[in-house]
Amino acid sequence: MASSFGAAQVLVASNRGPVSYEVADDGSLRAKRGGGGLVSGLSAIGPEAGALWVCSALSDGDREAVRRGVGEDGVRMLDIPADVHAGAYNGIANSVLWFVHHMLYQTPVEPVFDAEFRRQWASYEAYNRAFAEALAEEAARGAAVLVQDYHLTLVPGMLRELRPDLRIGHFSHTPWAPPEYFAMLPDDIARQVLRGMLGADRLGFLTHRWADAFTACCERFAGGTGDTEIGVHGLGADADFLRARSHEADVEERIATLREEIGEGRRTIVRVDRTELSKNIVRGLLAYRQLLDDHPEWRERVVHLAFAYPSRQDLAVYRDYTAEVQRVAEEINERYGTPDWRPVVLHVRDDFARSLAAYRLADVALVNPIRDGMNLVAKEVPVVSDAGCVLVLSREAGAHEELGEDAITVNPYDVVDTARALHEALTMGPDERTDRTKRLAASATALPPARWFLDQLNALRDGPAPA
Ligand code: G6P
Repeated sequence: MASSFGAAQVLVASNRGPVSYEVADDGSLRAKRGGGGLVSGLSAIGPEAGALWVCSALSDGDREAVRRGVGEDGVRMLDIPADVHAGAYNGIANSVLWFVHHMLYQTPVEPVFDAEFRRQWASYEAYNRAFAEALAEEAARGAAVLVQDYHLTLVPGMLRELRPDLRIGHFSHTPWAPPEYFAMLPDDIARQVLRGMLGADRLGFLTHRWADAFTACCERFAGGTGDTEIGVHGLGADADFLRARSHEADVEERIATLREEIGEGRRTIVRVDRTELSKNIVRGLLAYRQLLDDHPEWRERVVHLAFAYPSRQDLAVYRDYTAEVQRVAEEINERYGTPDWRPVVLHVRDDFARSLAAYRLADVALVNPIRDGMNLVAKEVPVVSDAGCVLVLSREAGAHEELGEDAITVNPYDVVDTARALHEALTMGPDERTDRTKRLAASATALPPARWFLDQLNALRDGPAPA
């Protein structure tokens, strides 16, 4: 029997993998490597650990790479049919599960769970099954499998049936919805999601709040959490990487350009986000406008650097939201701008070096999401800022559980109060600002990515042996 098992001892499964491909003009394939907590975590266990990352082909380049048999060691990309992937990723993961966990629906008109939803759900099941089958094929006897996120909630249950010998973990990088909101899902779907997750030996969440919400949903819809263990692992910032990377030449160049855009002697309010609906960028701009109204003394003396990078542009609501961010930023610039002061400097083209440059220049960091699993920007800016920065932080961000005491807390819906918080941040004395930044940086880096990953792996391996 054992001979039919694969060879991988540690497996990671996620929709987006650590590498993507583009077809160049000459027809060759160009690989692009990504970053993030999982990438650092896996490199920490070393190449001899027998690790395999199972992910989905996302672009035409990725599909071409799978077809040509091009790939990186330690990565298996699944060529799931494009229409199945679209139903699962755009239809269910991003338009339903993401909306439920971030509580984003405008409930008078949505959600509507109709026949089209059921067709997309069938795609979501097929996509989860493709992952479960690939993992079952690749895993060595007794291997540890770490499944990631809302895209793959059904995988633990499906994999458990195929391979009862495995140790299966699942980690949620998002919030989890409270039961009253989760109850919007059709009953059978709600149960299927929870039972799928509970197929795991161990479930990880970023904060106690999200773990408790999950447990409450299980009590209401699935008769409890059974034998599944639940752990909290608050992913932190990677201080060594950030400090080194933010002093490289390309970042210094971006600092020079940003300084010109800001102008001499002005304070900066910095935000950097992927343009997700949950990030609350529009209310952030409205709060800044309110600040300029309530405290005209800041006019010409402050600049709001707002970087809003494209995300999930296949979805119309995301495209519309990006357009609204641009419209409000322009309106503020037209209304308040002067010949040598642009109140909002908005950039929408993703540029990591420029983000780090903005972090270094930040006097105030504005992180005001409606709801967020963690929010790493809140953790990164205090580590990188040259002169220390004040963090204005939404109480609905997971990071608030760890950073709340040294941040200025805001209700993300209250733009008048957010304007007040921005004023308080801009006027904070230098000693208090320095002290708070030091404490923020210490909390933010308490659990660096490699440690975060290893803790989960060790907890999964040390748990009770599979029956
Ligand atoms: C955010 C969430 C992650 C999620 C990712 C997916 O960063 O915090 O939980 O996996 O979005 O983004 P994507 O661009 O792949 O849709």
